[in-house]
Amino acid sequence: MVDYSVNSSVALLLVNNPPVNALSHAVRKGLADGMLKATKDTKVKAIVIAGKGRTFPAGADIREFSGPGKEPWLVPVGNGIEASGKPVVAAIHGTCLGGGLEVALFCHYRVALKSARVGFPEVAIGILPGAAGTQRLPRVTGLPVAFDMITSGRHVPAEQAKKYGIIDEIVTGDIVNAGIRYAMIMVGKSTIPRRLRAKPVPDAENVQKYADAAMAHVKRKYKGYEAPVYCVKAVRASAEKPYDLGVENEKTLFNVVGKSGQARAQQYAFFAERVVGKWEMPGGNSQTAKPIPVRSTAVIGAGTMGTGIAVCILSAGLPCYLVEQNQKFLENGLKTIKALMEGSVKLGKISPEVGQRAASLLKPTMSYDDLTGVDLVIEAVYENLELKKEIFAKLDKVCKPSTILCSNTSSIDIDRIAVATKRPEKCVGVHFFAPAYHMKLLENIYSTKTSPDTAATVMKLGKTIGKVPILVKSCQGFLANRMNTPYGTESGFLVEEGALPWEVDQVMEDFGMPMGPFKVRDLSGLDVGSKITAEIAKTLGVTLTDETRFMAGNRYSHMNTVLANMGRLGRKSGKGWYKYEKAGGKIASIDDDVITVLNNHCKKLGIERRTISSQEIIERLMYSCINEGFKILEEGIAKRPEEIDISWLYGFTFPKYLGGPMYYANQVGLGRVYDRICYYHENFPFSKHWVPSQLLRRLSEQNIPMSQWMASPGARL
Ligand code: CAA
Repeated sequence: MVDYSVNSSVALLLVNNPPVNALSHAVRKGLADGMLKATKDTKVKAIVIAGKGRTFPAGADIREFSGPGKEPWLVPVGNGIEASGKPVVAAIHGTCLGGGLEVALFCHYRVALKSARVGFPEVAIGILPGAAGTQRLPRVTGLPVAFDMITSGRHVPAEQAKKYGIIDEIVTGDIVNAGIRYAMIMVGKSTIPRRLRAKPVPDAENVQKYADAAMAHVKRKYKGYEAPVYCVKAVRASAEKPYDLGVENEKTLFNVVGKSGQARAQQYAFFAERVVGKWEMPGGNSQTAKPIPVRSTAVIGAGTMGTGIAVCILSAGLPCYLVEQNQKFLENGLKTIKALMEGSVKLGKISPEVGQRAASLLKPTMSYDDLTGVDLVIEAVYENLELKKEIFAKLDKVCKPSTILCSNTSSIDIDRIAVATKRPEKCVGVHFFAPAYHMKLLENIYSTKTSPDTAATVMKLGKTIGKVPILVKSCQGFLANRMNTPYGTESGFLVEEGALPWEVDQVMEDFGMPMGPFKVRDLSGLDVGSKITAEIAKTLGVTLTDETRFMAGNRYSHMNTVLANMGRLGRKSGKGWYKYEKAGGKIASIDDDVITVLNNHCKKLGIERRTISSQEIIERLMYSCINEGFKILEEGIAKRPEEIDISWLYGFTFPKYLGGPMYYANQVGLGRVYDRICYYHENFPFSKHWVPSQLLRRLSEQNIPMSQWMASPGARL
């Protein structure tokens, strides 16, 4: 795990634990043994610590957190490094993160390739740096940078890290050789002045000011998350306590936050994100399928989604045609893209060079004939099957035979679109979430005809453009929207039965959702929901009136349309479920008129309003979706619960500290969730989303652990 060698007078401790050289027990032991050997060897005058393969250690081995752990711990190993009388140099390439950066900070010198990045991402997995990082970083960078780096978890590029004082020198060429060369220069120099434990924290007298600012920031930005708060407390102690007591304090805080439910959930989410990359579908999987190279792309439609998707593609440095049917729409689209790209540069999401390059990569056109040679096209027009089919038929005619045709549909079965082409195996769904340039989820959908190579191509494209892609089987609504539907439906029923919209919103925001369901409706526009409902009613042959309570035997609430028909369209009209300071305003306040409309609506329908508890609100909104999630699993739409959880984390901003709805269900206990679903089914027999999932029933009866859900007998229908 740690290869030891001596090159002239320099000992090299090369960490060899692929893929990311995580600091597992064997690596920690290897480092401790290597340091002992190098210290004893009189021929050795300096020591280099580096990583073999792609990176310097990227942190502790997260998989070890669920077990009891084994000595030696990283702090004593680090103390051994720091105490060495022979200079120790960290030679950094790749990602030097978490425990890896802590090892580097125990070393006396740090050199790095320009391409390297350093950081403390522990906060993202619900913990804090636990090997003296919170005490050593402030001694190097000062408090403001340390607070920022440790509470945000951001990866800092090597050159910036040099400015912060973390890196002593940027080197070129082979990192090990560069490290050895640097170490040879340091031979004979005293290591005492380089020991961080003895350095004071700069500007320590102002710690109160910096800590208060950091705490206010994390409470606002990471509402509900415990780890950032603990990070602030730990860093603060670096300026208030002697080094050793600061380290003790860090350990205490680490032990508390590390054992919390949030940490476990966030670590589950970390691995879930990696699991969804290992997809499978009939005929192939992520190992066997071969993505086709995508060097050129096109987006059809310059509306909100089309422009957002084009921004994602351009930001990744890929050429993109933007196709519209008339000049005015095209020009508007170009203006939107320009503004979004400029915004991304301002926010530091992309570099000014990438922003500038995008202008030359973007090719506006009104002619499909320009698309003959593109590798991949994404259709992003509005949800209308006939229009989508027409576009696919046109593309099929003009594009070269290998071009992959994608639809950014949010719900239409891909098979129904692909029939318009002679290449159904190259047709696939790529469902982006609004705003497309911001939301990280990419829900890729295979039809009965999509080939694994086509699926592999869009999965790879997702990664290239910085998304978290998942692959699911086609059905009405796919995974994300199908599962999310009861969330909106039940919130509508709750306000009919007695809850007020702001009460429902408050409960769900306290639960962890960034915005309650009624604020979301106001944001997207009540007319949008109302039009979708009208379309569904049309296909079912139902005439909607203010008194309609059922559609095709299924319970329905007309309240959203009642408000929309009054011109209360949400934020854009200044009134919706809330009232706003102006049309287009953002400050929602309670509107008594809505209560009156609600009361009248209920009176007309003979609904007696009642008091509804917070617990019922959470159960009605979450358990109904979870029940649908289990149906999605048993029907094979998703292969694993991780795909569902990732879709909620990155498509609906579900709080990571709850892991995702399926993880959450497992924490609550499947038995309890199932019982409550049965209870609601009994009480609300006309809502088909309460018909209990058979998979959930079986799993709850047999008490099967989450990791075994899909391997259990009869998991699929
Ligand atoms: N522990 C265990 N496994 C890890 C790991 C870690 N710290 N980091 C990555 N892996 C695993 C991944 O699960 C994945 O495994 P599979 O191939 O089996 O799926 C594999 O390594 C490759 O990881 P990625 O797919 O993520 O590779 P990437 O190149 O896209 O990203 C990375 C590399 C930036 C290092 C990313 O893996 C990452 O962010 N890792 C986590 C880093 C981290 O959180 N470090 C802090 C750990 S906690 C700590 O160090 C506490 C402390 O104070 C001592």
